Amino acid sequence: MPAASDSNPVIELLSKHHNRAAFDCDVDGLTRYIRQLAVQDVKKKVAASFVLLGDTLSTIAGYYTLSSTNVDVVELPEPVVRKLPHYPIMPATLIGRLAVDRHYQSRGYGELLLVDALRRSLKLTEQIGSVAVIVDAKDNKARSFYEHFQFIPLINYSYRLFLPMAVIQNYFTHE
Ligand SMILES: CC(C)(COP(=O)(O)OP(=O)(O)OC[C@H]1O[C@@H](n2cnc3c(N)ncnc32)[C@H](O)[C@@H]1OP(=O)(O)O)[C@@H](O)C(=O)NCCC(=O)NCCS
Repeated sequence: MPAASDSNPVIELLSKHHNRAAFDCDVDGLTRYIRQLAVQDVKKKVAASFVLLGDTLSTIAGYYTLSSTNVDVVELPEPVVRKLPHYPIMPATLIGRLAVDRHYQSRGYGELLLVDALRRSLKLTEQIGSVAVIVDAKDNKARSFYEHFQFIPLINYSYRLFLPMAVIQNYFTHE
């Protein structure tokens, strides 16, 4: 997993002082989510939102969300299943959304957010079980972004991809 490009990035929990209205990533659903829905989802414990600060303490350069989810083992490839105990459903961590503001794209911030989400997901397995990180790609461009970082589509799902927690652990123990 490549290293983050910014020397001093700040990624923190979304709060009211962040300027959500100014965020625009050129994908309507992801722009609308942080502007209108993220705070409600945090309040209702549906998803935690983490924001990467931009040029000011209130500027959102990018964000991602984390939730608990599960995965049916029939959706996982055989080599992955073989390494797991024999349960039909496995716990997993969902990156439901990840986006970078249009003014901050192509500077390594998408990677920075993804690496932070993976590191945080791994750390959280000390407190709640999770065998993989799952992502929902919104379109082909998003899917190719995740494939660039070795995510694999779940069987029968073109836009839901996963990375085994064992692989993530390996990334961070060898960095
Ligand atoms: C997709 C997105 C998150 C990428 O963020 P970014 O900051 O522009 O990308 P980065 O600069 O961090 O790119 C890091 C690496 O990923 C690669 N990459 C970026 N977008 C890619 C894509 N769509 N497909 C394949 N690779 C991609 C870059 O080439 C770079 O690779 P390198 O380090 O080998 O040179 C951003 O463009 C975005 O928010 N788009 C709109 C919303 C979206 O599609 N979100 C996806 C999740 S649903």
